[in-house]
Amino acid sequence: MKGIILAGGKGTRLEPFTKLLNKHLLPVGGHPMIYWPINKLKEAGITDILIVTNNQHLRSFQEILGRGEELGVKLFYTIQSEKGGGIADALASAKNFVEDQCIVLLGDNLFDDDLRPYIDNFKTQPQGAKVLLKEVKDPERYGVALLDEVNHTIISIVEKPKNPTSNFCVTGIYFYNKEVFDLIDLIKPSSRGEKEITDINNLYINRKELKYDILKSWWLDAGTHEALYAANKHYFEKKDIQKAT
Ligand code: G1P
Repeated sequence: MKGIILAGGKGTRLEPFTKLLNKHLLPVGGHPMIYWPINKLKEAGITDILIVTNNQHLRSFQEILGRGEELGVKLFYTIQSEKGGGIADALASAKNFVEDQCIVLLGDNLFDDDLRPYIDNFKTQPQGAKVLLKEVKDPERYGVALLDEVNHTIISIVEKPKNPTSNFCVTGIYFYNKEVFDLIDLIKPSSRGEKEITDINNLYINRKELKYDILKSWWLDAGTHEALYAANKHYFEKKDIQKAT
């Protein structure tokens, strides 16, 4: 299975730093932020990784990460379209990279769970997609999943709802079959002008082909100054604990 990390976007919530540097290259725990999702894929045995970014930042990624030799992975790069925008639109640029199934990570989603069990499980799923959820205190900031826990299915996902119907946020860790690229062609941009990944996931729900799991450990969307601070604190404290033991 191949890995895709989406690392475009304007990062407006992290200005002024993102006027100069892509959000996913800002420092977290002594590394560029994207180091952490790359490392999670590597630990899970996924070493062919495509980074999708925008034209403006491609060179910075190549200068900092190169082809991935130092990280023990093979990095490939592609540029997302400048118009449209949105996560689903960025994912469309990965079409030629994917053979059958893929794992897609948003490059600002940082987490401690080992990806291996989820990947192994998805490999046995005959069709469709899978998302990983996390219970959060502020669901209105995210895509929110309403669950039928008895049948272990998702009833619906609403993007940034004013009145969330659950505390389960859909994290930026997605598993898709190759059909995802046909579905991206089908959807229209939302009211904020973006092709939403939530619309794709709801298409899979309509087909009864979206499975889910719940993350067990720490997870964070590092897209704000406060979250970036929390991410740094997490990784530096973890390092100190490792040194002390
Ligand atoms: C995106 C997705 C959202 C998801 C979140 C996870 O939101 O649209 O469904 O819950 O990532 O980090 P964004 O951070 O782009 O606003």
